[in-house]
Amino acid sequence: MINVSIKQDLNNVTVRISDTGIGISPEDQDRIFERFFKADRSHSRKYGGSGMGLAIVKQIVSLHKGDIRVESEPGQGTTIIITLPI
Ligand SMILES: Nc1ncnc2c1ncn2[C@@H]1O[C@H](COP(=O)(O)OP(=O)(O)O)[C@@H](O)[C@H]1O
Ligand SMILES: [Mg+2]
Repeated sequence: MINVSIKQDLNNVTVRISDTGIGISPEDQDRIFERFFKADRSHSRKYGGSGMGLAIVKQIVSLHKGDIRVESEPGQGTTIIITLPI
């Protein structure tokens, strides 16, 4: 299940993208925004991907002077939170 929500306050818009997927370990959460980083290498063939997605998203968000962060619980799911100034 993927849930997308948007909230606006005086200065910022916050976009939250949540899933009920496999989650990301605390160690990997520190690295997912690095180029070519893929968590759990033993499964990287199974899940595919290039490890570029979040690095590109982070770059775009930075160029808009925004902020991106992750909250995740292994086995429960992941939320990516993007804040953009208005
Ligand atoms: N929603 C998610 N749930 C679990 N793991 C994720 C999620 N998003 C990213 N990851 C982990 O972070 C790594 C890097 O993600 P990303 O930069 O989006 O790579 P890709 O371009 O391969 O999709 C992925 O290989 C995966 O291990
Ligand atoms: Mg991705």
